[in-house]
Amino acid sequence: MDSKISRIGVFTSGGDAPGMNAALRAVVRTSIFYKKEVYGIMQGYEGMISGEIVKLGARSVGNIIQRGGTILKTARSKEFRTPEGRAKAYENLKKHGIDALVAIGGDGTLTGLHKLYEEYSIPSICMPGTIDNDITGTDFTIGFDTATNTAVEAIDKIRDTAISHNRLFFIEVMGRNSGYIAINCGIAGGAVATIIPEESMTLDELFAKLDEGGKTNKKSSLVVVSEGSKLGGAMELAKKFSERNNYFDIKVTILGHLQRGGSPTYFDRVLAGKMGVAAVEGLLKGEKDCMVGILNNQVVYNDFSSIIGKHHEIDSESLRIAKILSI
Ligand code: F6P
Repeated sequence: MDSKISRIGVFTSGGDAPGMNAALRAVVRTSIFYKKEVYGIMQGYEGMISGEIVKLGARSVGNIIQRGGTILKTARSKEFRTPEGRAKAYENLKKHGIDALVAIGGDGTLTGLHKLYEEYSIPSICMPGTIDNDITGTDFTIGFDTATNTAVEAIDKIRDTAISHNRLFFIEVMGRNSGYIAINCGIAGGAVATIIPEESMTLDELFAKLDEGGKTNKKSSLVVVSEGSKLGGAMELAKKFSERNNYFDIKVTILGHLQRGGSPTYFDRVLAGKMGVAAVEGLLKGEKDCMVGILNNQVVYNDFSSIIGKHHEIDSESLRIAKILSI
C-alpha cells in the first residue's frame, strides 16, 4: 500500500475496556504487515506529553489477545486539554518521527485527536473502545459486549440469592449517560424494570409496577438501574421505594468497575481485529481525522466532526422488547 506514512503511534485512552489489547495487537500487526514502524504511547495522552513512547514489534503484542485492561495503560489527561499540553505532545511525536496516530478510546479520546489534527495536521484514526457503547457511527464499541456479559453473569447470581430470600434487588450498572448496558442487561437478566437515562418510567409508574408484583405474590424482583438514571441511582431508588413498600425485603448492588475487567468475549476480539486492520489500512489509503466504525457489518470512516458529542440512540426495538418481557 503506497503511503507517505512511515511510523504509526498507537495508544489507548480514557476508561479501559476489554478488547483494547486485541485492538492494539491488530494495529501493531497490520502496521508491520504493511512494512510500517509502530510505536506504543504509554498512558494515553499523558505518555504523549511526557514522552513515554516505546517501539513495538509483532512479538511485543503476543499473548495479549485474551487479556483484559490495556498493556499500554490508560489515563484521562487534563493537561492534554490545554494548548500547552498538546504542544508538548506534538514535540514528542516529532522527536520520535511519528507521522500518524491510531487511538483506541471513547468520546474524550476522539475529541483530543480531532484537536491535534486541527492544530498540527497529524493524520489520525480513532477506534471506538469503551464499555458504554455511547458513540455514534458504529453499531458496537470495543468492550461493550464483554462488559454486558459480565454484568448479566453477575445479575444471574444475584437472581439466585434474590429468589432464595424473596428479595427485591436494585442493581446499578455503568454506562455514564448511556442506557445501552442497562437495557441489554434488563432484557437478558429478566428485570421487572430497567431505568435508563434516555427513556424511563416515572417514579410513580415504577413503584406502581413493583407494588403490583408484591400484591400478586411475586416473590422476588430485579430492577436494573443505569448509573446515568435521571430518577436517581440504585441506592436512592431503593431508599424511596422502601418508604412505601410493604412486601419486599430490599437490597442494592452496584456492579461498578468489575464490569470493566476480564477477558474479552470472542465478539469483542473479532470487532477489535476488524477495526484494527481497517484503521491502519484507512490511514494508509489517506483516511484521517475520523473514527472507524462498523455499521451493518460494513467498515465506515466517520469524520470526527460528525460524531463528537452526539448521543448514540438506543434502538426503539430494544425498548419495546424490554417493556413486553417485563410484565
Ligand atoms: O466510560 C467508561 C466508564 O466505566 C463509565 O461507564 C463510567 O461512568 C466511567 O467510565 C467511570 O470512570 P472512572 O473509572 O474514571 O471512575
